[in-house]
Amino acid sequence: MTSRRLESVKPSATMAMTARAIQLRREGRDIISLSVGEPDFPVFPHVEQAIVDALRKGQTKYTTSSGTAELREAISDWMFAQVGVRYAVPQIVVTSGAKQSLYNACQALLDEGDEAVIPNPYWVSYPEMVRLAGAKVVELMLRPADGWAPHADDWERVLTPRTRVLMFSSPSNPTGAVWSAQALEAMARALEKFPKVVVLSDDIYDKLVYGGVKCPNLLQIAPQLASRTVLINGCSKAYAMTGLRLGWACGPLEIIAGMNKVQDASTSNASSLSQAAAVAALRGPQEPLESMRVQFEKRRHLMVELLRRVPGVEAHEPDGAYYVFPDVSKILGRKYRGEPVGTDTRFAEILLEEFGVAVVQGTAFGRPGFLRLSFATSEQQIRGAMDRFARCVAALA
Ligand SMILES: Cc1ncc(COP(=O)(O)O)c(C=O)c1O
Repeated sequence: MTSRRLESVKPSATMAMTARAIQLRREGRDIISLSVGEPDFPVFPHVEQAIVDALRKGQTKYTTSSGTAELREAISDWMFAQVGVRYAVPQIVVTSGAKQSLYNACQALLDEGDEAVIPNPYWVSYPEMVRLAGAKVVELMLRPADGWAPHADDWERVLTPRTRVLMFSSPSNPTGAVWSAQALEAMARALEKFPKVVVLSDDIYDKLVYGGVKCPNLLQIAPQLASRTVLINGCSKAYAMTGLRLGWACGPLEIIAGMNKVQDASTSNASSLSQAAAVAALRGPQEPLESMRVQFEKRRHLMVELLRRVPGVEAHEPDGAYYVFPDVSKILGRKYRGEPVGTDTRFAEILLEEFGVAVVQGTAFGRPGFLRLSFATSEQQIRGAMDRFARCVAALA
């Protein structure tokens, strides 16, 4: 019934886990969800006011497909302040979430038979977007011992004359790893031999970094790549606006024009009210972002500390985003009620069904043996979830 292209696309495991958690809650179960990737904060008050004002002023019509001039100017100023690169308005496209920017870029750049390099572990949607564009995923296997950042000599193993796209996020979902200036420099050096490769730098978590770590932007380290780099960002994570679906891409005119074509042929403009909200978020006071970040930093510490008390679990402290990606492989050989646990997927199932904690199995991110736990939830929920997690592990023989 459906297209051949769709056959290779897997349903999102994060969405599936969230849906199951919601269903169990509806059945009256007490479930703590650590599976979603969104801030538990409301939109900032001035953003809320901007939406109400826009609605009252009748800003409920189509806008230019690529976004209002007002918002694209605000993005241009914000990007200049944050990254130090000045993009002209035609070099910016506003999309329904950062996700749509990534998707449009894949559609605009990839042909059948092209290769797209994706570091593994990856955000669940990257490979599916590549496959939906008819291209082939080439995984760059990262190692926990390196803090999940690439080595200089990793690149020659994955880049080929067929590589068209390299997409990555730093900070990463699911590991929270922030790639250092040296890691980005090495990547840029490797790309010199592959001038056809366009880099999609997914910067959606770049405001959420901890412990004094700075998140360098690729174009600060390798400005020579500007002619073939698309920077992708949005309001979802930094401004707690996930449901408002507002992201953007900035890059070379030709690529952005291509992404606009995809958007014109599919969704047209992002929501007019969300665009008004984004202007307020980007131009307004930034203090709420910082207080949210400080909360996340405390929660990160708490979750890692509690996880490390569980025997058999190895948890690194992530530098950014709001996920911990512990190694639970040592536990998978144990038994639950006489049956071997075996896989991270089964472990996540036991955690949810028997102990009421929703997490996402590492397999969904290309890495069996790990789990992704989000700390974008209250301290009380984190304590409750970690208590249940510890009881679950203790119940495995
Ligand atoms: C790495 C990464 N990129 C992009 C997105 C999507 O952002 P948006 O909600 O703005 O589409 C997410 C959301 O989980 C993400 O984790």
